[in-house]
Amino acid sequence: MALMNENYCNLKESYLFSQIAAKVTTFTAEHPDKKVIRMGIGDVTLPLAPAVIKAMQKAVEEMATKETFRGYGPEQGYDFLRDALVKYYETAGVTLAREEIFVSDGAKSDCGNITDIFSDANTILVPDPVYPVYVDTNIMRGRKILYINGTPENGFLPMPDASIKADVIYLCSPNNPTGAAYTKAQLEEWVTYALKNDAVILYDAAYEAFVTDPAIPRSIFVVEGAKECAIELCSLSKTAGFTGTRCGYTVVPHNLKRKTADGTELSLNKMWLRRQTTKFNGVPYVIQRAAEAVFSEEGQKECQEMLAFYRENAKIMMDTFTKKGLKFYGGVYSPYIWLECPKGMTSWAFFDYLLEKLAIVGTPGAGFGQMGEGYLRLTAFGSREATVEAMARIEESL
Ligand code: MLT
Repeated sequence: MALMNENYCNLKESYLFSQIAAKVTTFTAEHPDKKVIRMGIGDVTLPLAPAVIKAMQKAVEEMATKETFRGYGPEQGYDFLRDALVKYYETAGVTLAREEIFVSDGAKSDCGNITDIFSDANTILVPDPVYPVYVDTNIMRGRKILYINGTPENGFLPMPDASIKADVIYLCSPNNPTGAAYTKAQLEEWVTYALKNDAVILYDAAYEAFVTDPAIPRSIFVVEGAKECAIELCSLSKTAGFTGTRCGYTVVPHNLKRKTADGTELSLNKMWLRRQTTKFNGVPYVIQRAAEAVFSEEGQKECQEMLAFYRENAKIMMDTFTKKGLKFYGGVYSPYIWLECPKGMTSWAFFDYLLEKLAIVGTPGAGFGQMGEGYLRLTAFGSREATVEAMARIEESL
C-alpha cells in the first residue's frame, strides 16, 4: 500500500497566488466588461532587456549547428554565468568562489528544494508576515515552525532574542511582502544569533537589486561570520524581468559546515552539490546565456532602467496613498507597498472590495500570515498606464 505524505493535509487548500488567480478568473468571467488591473502577484510587465534578448538569440543560433550545439550542461550552472555572478557580488562588496554559486531555475524552487539537506527534526523560524513558500515547504516536511512577529513597531523587521530556540531561520530583505529592509547592524545581530545557536540562516535576497542606499546590504555576506551560518537565495525574476524566463542562484559558502550526531563534519556546499546533481539537470544553456547578459555593462544599464521605471510606479502609488491619508510601508527598497486596510477592514474584505468595486487585484496580507491581517500588498510592477489608472480609481472611490 502506498502511504502518502500526510503532512499535505496540514496545508491550506491552495497556494496563496493560485487562490487569488481563481478569484480573479471568476470575477472576470462574471464581469467581462470590467478592465481588471492586476497588482497582486509580483509579476513584471516590461519585456526583457535588449542585451538579454540579443544574447538569447545568439545562444539559440548556437543550438542550431553541430559545432556549437550543447546537450546536458553542468547541473550547478555554466562557468561563464557563475563567473559573471562572482563579479556581480563584488559590486555588493562580497567575494565569492565560483563553486559557491549554484545556478537554478529560480529562488522559489531552491527555497523549497534546500529543505532536502536539513533534518526534519529542525525547528524552523519564520518572520510573520512572510512569503508563503517558506512555511508551506516546511509544513510539507512536518517540521516544527516558530514565528517571529513583524509589526509596525519594529518596522516589520523582527530581531532575534535569547528566548528563541530555532535551528533554521528564514530572512527576506528587502522583504516580501512588507518592503522593509534590514540594516547591516541588524543583520549582524542575526548572524551572531545563528553562530551562537549553530543555526543556519536561509537568506532570500530576491529583491536586492531594488536597493540603492549603500547603507542597506544587498547580500548577507557583507556581514562578518555570515559565510559560517548562511545560505543566500537570489533570482533574476525581479532584477531582470525573468519571471517567465526562469533563472536564479543560490550561494552555499565553503565555510558553511555542520556536524552529524556522531561528530562527522558535513559541508553544506557538498551536500547541495550532491542534491542538485542527483535531482536537477541544470538551467537551459540559452537561458544561462541570457542571464549572463544581465550582468554585462549594457545589460546592467538596461536592467537599472527597468528598475527605475518600477520605482517611479511605486512613487506614483505612494503619492496617491499619502494624498488619501492611507497608511503604508515599503515601496522604497522593493516593488511592494504594504497598505494598512482602511476603516478597520480585514485583508480579505479589502481585497474583495478592491476587486468588486474598483476591479483592482491586490494580495491580502492575511495570506502572508497572521500578522498580515489588516494589510494588503500592492505591486509596482504594472505598466505606467495601469498604475496611473488604478491610482485614479482609488483616488476617486476609496
Ligand atoms: C510574489 O508576488 O510574492 C512573488 O512574485 C512570488 C514569487 O516570486 O514566487
